[in-house]
Amino acid sequence: MRAVIIPETGDSKVLRLSDNTPKPAAGPTEVLVKLEYAGVNFIDVYQRTGLYKLELPVIAGREGAGRIEEIGSDVPAEYDLHVGDAVAVFAQGAYAEYIAVAASGVMKLPPNVPVKDGAALMLQGLTAWTMVKDAHEVKPGEQILIQAAAGGTGGLLVQMAKHLGATVIGTVSSEEKAAVAFGHGADYVINYTQSNVLEEVMKITNGAGCHAVLSGIGKATFADDLACTRRKGTFVTYGNSSGAVEGFRPLELSKKNVKLVRPTLGNYITEREEFVTRSQEMLDLVSRGILKVAYGKEYDMNSIGRAQDDLAGKQTTGKLIVKIQ
Ligand SMILES: NC(=O)c1ccc[n+]([C@@H]2O[C@H](COP(=O)([O-])OP(=O)(O)OC[C@H]3O[C@@H](n4cnc5c(N)ncnc54)[C@H](OP(=O)(O)O)[C@@H]3O)[C@@H](O)[C@H]2O)c1
Repeated sequence: MRAVIIPETGDSKVLRLSDNTPKPAAGPTEVLVKLEYAGVNFIDVYQRTGLYKLELPVIAGREGAGRIEEIGSDVPAEYDLHVGDAVAVFAQGAYAEYIAVAASGVMKLPPNVPVKDGAALMLQGLTAWTMVKDAHEVKPGEQILIQAAAGGTGGLLVQMAKHLGATVIGTVSSEEKAAVAFGHGADYVINYTQSNVLEEVMKITNGAGCHAVLSGIGKATFADDLACTRRKGTFVTYGNSSGAVEGFRPLELSKKNVKLVRPTLGNYITEREEFVTRSQEMLDLVSRGILKVAYGKEYDMNSIGRAQDDLAGKQTTGKLIVKIQ
C-alpha cells in the first residue's frame, strides 16, 4: 500500500512516500480501516523533528477516517462496528491507504457527519472538547482567552466556548485571521501584531483577567498567558507551536493561585468509555450544526511535507486535510 514514512528525524524533506509498504491485517482486537482522509496536526511536526520521540521508521499521521474493511475475531459486539461502517480513528499511521487499529480507538460516524469531517475532528476536535470539558470546564458567563483563534484547534475552541456560554477573546496575527475568528463567534479579537494582548485583555476584563486561558502556543506567549489569567483562574497550556516551555517556577502560580494544566488528549480518552463519551458529545455538536469544521487547504499524499511546513509556518487557517489515494 501507499504510506508516508518518517525514516529519521529532520526537516520536512525526510518524509518518504512509499508505494510498497505491507498492507496490515486486523489482529484479534483490531479493525482494518481503508482510509479516505487524514488530518494534518502539529504532532506530525513534533514527531518528525524529534520533539516527541518515536521508534523510527514509522508511518506518519495521527488521525484519519474511512470505512471498515475487516474486523478482528475478538472485537466486542457492544462496540457495534461492522464492515463498511464509516469510522474515524485517533491512531498512529494515518497517512496510509490502510490502518489496523485497536477497536477501542475506533469511532463510528453518525450518518450526517461526512467521512472528511470525521478525519478532521478526531485530534483537534477531541482536543478542543476535552480542553473545555476536562482541563477547564467552561461555564456560562466566563471570560475565556483563546490563542490562535483562527487555527485548527483554536477555531474549534472558540465555537465550543461560545456554545458553552462564555465570552470569548481570541488572538490572531492578521486582519484576515481576525475575520476568521469573528466568523467562529469570538466576541473580541486581538491582532497581536498591532496591539498588546495583555493590555487589551485587561481592558476587556476590567483589570481582572480571564477565568481561563487556552493556549497551544507554548514558550512565546507563556508569560503573557499566565498574566492574562485571573486570580483563581485556570491556565491551560496544551501545545508548543512556538517551542516547549522550559524553566518555569511553580512559585509563580501563588501570586494569583492560578491552576496550571498541561494536558494531552490521549490521557483524557485512555478508557474506551471516555473516548466514546467525548467523541459522541463532539459529533453530536457537528450533527446539530453547532460545530463546523473550517477547512484550510487540502493536500495529497505527495505534499504532506508541504502541509506540515505550511502549518508550522503560520501560513494557515482552519483544518488542513490530506486526501488518501
Ligand atoms: N495537547 C494536545 O493533546 C494537543 C492536541 C492537538 C493540538 N495540540 C496543540 O495545539 C496547538 C495548535 O495546533 P493546530 O494543529 O490547531 O495548529 P494551528 O493553531 O492551526 O496553527 C498554529 C497557529 O498558531 C499560531 N502561532 C503563534 N506563534 C506561532 C509559532 N511560533 N509557530 C507556529 N504557529 C504559531 C499561528 O496563528 P497566528 O498566525 O494567528 O498567530 C498558527 O497559524 C499546537 O501547539 C499543538 O501542539 C495539542
